Amino acid sequence: MKKLLFPCIIFLAITLQSCKKEDKMDAYISDLMGRMTVEEKIGQLNLTIAGGFVTGSAVNENIQQKLEKGQIGGMLNSFSIESMRAMQEIAVKESPNKIPVLFGMDVIHGFRTIFPIPLAISCSWDPALIENSARIAATEATANGICWAYSPMVDIARDPRWGRIAEGSGEDPYLGSIIAEAMVKGYQGDDLTANNTMMACVKHFALYGASEAGRDYNTVDISRVAMYNYWLSPYKAAIDAGAGSVMSSFNVVDAIPATGNRWLLTTLLRDQLGFDGFVVSDYTSVNEMINHGMGDLQQVSALALRAGLDMDMVGEGFLTTLKKSLDEGKITREEIDLACRRVLEAKYKLGLFEDPFRYLDAERAKTVLMTPENLNASKELAQRSAVLLKNENQLLPLKKSGTIAVVGPLANSKADMLGTWAMGGDPNAISTVLEGIKNVGGDAVKVIYAKGSEFTDDPAMLNLFNPLAAQGGNSQAEVSRPAEELIREAVSAAKNSDVVVAVLGEPAAWSGEASSRSDISLPAAQKNLLKALLTTGKPVVLVLVNGRPLTLTWEDENVPAILEAWNGGTEAGNAIAVVLFGDYNPSGKLTATFPRSVGQIPLYYNHLNTGRPMQPENKFSTKYLDSPNDPLYPFGYGLSYTTFTYGDILTDKTEVKGEDSLIVKIPVTNSGKYAGEEIVQLYIQDPVASISRPVKELKNFAKIMLQPGETKEVVFSIKTDDLKFYNSDLIYDWEGGEFVIFAGTNSRDTKSVKVNWEKM
Ligand code: BGC
Repeated sequence: MKKLLFPCIIFLAITLQSCKKEDKMDAYISDLMGRMTVEEKIGQLNLTIAGGFVTGSAVNENIQQKLEKGQIGGMLNSFSIESMRAMQEIAVKESPNKIPVLFGMDVIHGFRTIFPIPLAISCSWDPALIENSARIAATEATANGICWAYSPMVDIARDPRWGRIAEGSGEDPYLGSIIAEAMVKGYQGDDLTANNTMMACVKHFALYGASEAGRDYNTVDISRVAMYNYWLSPYKAAIDAGAGSVMSSFNVVDAIPATGNRWLLTTLLRDQLGFDGFVVSDYTSVNEMINHGMGDLQQVSALALRAGLDMDMVGEGFLTTLKKSLDEGKITREEIDLACRRVLEAKYKLGLFEDPFRYLDAERAKTVLMTPENLNASKELAQRSAVLLKNENQLLPLKKSGTIAVVGPLANSKADMLGTWAMGGDPNAISTVLEGIKNVGGDAVKVIYAKGSEFTDDPAMLNLFNPLAAQGGNSQAEVSRPAEELIREAVSAAKNSDVVVAVLGEPAAWSGEASSRSDISLPAAQKNLLKALLTTGKPVVLVLVNGRPLTLTWEDENVPAILEAWNGGTEAGNAIAVVLFGDYNPSGKLTATFPRSVGQIPLYYNHLNTGRPMQPENKFSTKYLDSPNDPLYPFGYGLSYTTFTYGDILTDKTEVKGEDSLIVKIPVTNSGKYAGEEIVQLYIQDPVASISRPVKELKNFAKIMLQPGETKEVVFSIKTDDLKFYNSDLIYDWEGGEFVIFAGTNSRDTKSVKVNWEKM
């Protein structure tokens, strides 16, 4: 009895304490709102941008006057701590009720210390390191005035043409959910009022990753069953982890723009997913509802408020029309009050009422930015994000001796290492691959550098804006020379070397927002360089720096070694060199499928079976006339310098009953020469059910370290929760019958066993 009583008392005490906290907050905000005019309440719903990094066609004007009048609730993407301090001074001294401003920013993979892009870090399958990266980002950003991060971006993406695939965790709902939770915890920590934690903003709600044809801002049309089973999971995970805010997406859901979709923002988000924070629109997405055909600015603004949107980013539709709509009876005072309360609650939770300047600490900034620990964490994550795609005849790792030709437009480009949304990054602190190879290779390695080619011969694609390059971080500043001359120089460097490292891919401006590509291969200029290098007969290692899966069919056939290094952040160059020289044995695994060609897209591992499965000899089966169905590199794929051998899967039973669990054991042996980490993946298929179910779905994974010759048994426990899905009535449950359990090194190369699992 005593045993039971003690935890009950603690639980009661904690509940009482949090109730007390909430009561205090409610009372504070009610008192404040009691003094606010309706205009000032509407002002709290206005999020403005004064300049800086702008992703739409509008920016806001007369910031000072608006601050004085209490017409600004938050500001986004301001850089300078001094100007933020000045704006906060106006808000808390001049505005009618002295309400502090909320400062937000797209801190999505680091603030000053930049980590690899989110797609890259997802390839580490390492939630602890990912959480730590968000923790470090929060520590750095909050010293610089930012207490609200527009991250995590949890949109599942199955289309690599979409440039924003770079910002998320790839195609899998299970892994995406684990990463979403890790990031929210990293940003928010245990205590939001601490001066080094920040509020997360889960985006983009919802389904933005399903933009048709991979074209940004395009239509989304997804069935409810697919939505609930695959696309919604990571949002739910982030909300369950306590994310304080959500950003609505640009796309339509069921033909209604997300920003004005009441089913989405209220029924689903609040009633079903239990979200209790505030919702901000995306950049001018309220105004963009006019183009979606929802009415004029007054109509769409009212629609958005009624749908459950609390804050309007940049467009000022709320600021300029809500009062009129109220006077005309189109919205209610309660609707304005509710939105205002939610915004004020966020400020309260962040401790801004107690001390509006707690995040504007130039002294703290001096001590927390880019510390050796932060840079080290970035380097470690970059090493673990790199995915070895091919390594014929063990060309890698490289020896720390002899001559290495380091070539390619990305070999010595600083800014392009960082990738999308890295505006806080310091261009001068970035290590390039050229520098990394020199640093890590040591004195016994001679390095010859040649640029070899431009990114492309297409001037329009070459001159795309890269914000960091504008700060001076891009080697594109090198004077451009004729393609033949660049190639000649690179070939000569190759001939005088023992091995060539060709660093090719995409500049940072080719992925991220508004950066869709219809052709995701290496451009001809870079391919020509690669061909010329291969004709020298020297071994060529292709290092890819890019923000999306690329089509690499030709490269896979012709280049002996390929390392996918992504846009790897501040320490990218050093990290890549550490992997190339084998000081770290690569362990990254792809989280987005690499198709053979654009024609196969969308291509993802957890697809449904068709009624006419692929049969090479049967014309009337699901296939292409001119391409295999399967991808070049499947989800979960990634090599190591060593090899891992999987034994047969052992289960503790073949018949499982009711809520019992199933124990699965997989013996994995390091059968190669190097110590290395392996990510052991567990998939399940439910072959017969009331709706068609995927051919397999990731349900668990484990990262293990094995010495050469060592065997470890990986044990997973499967529960009925792992079998559940939403049926056609959207009821979440499992159905008895046969299940196939797969385990393996990727989603394609697996061993399997069957079990029968019946309901009692
Ligand atoms: C993007 C968001 C971003 C916002 C603020 C928009 O264009 O879609 O992801 O958070 O701009 O910069």
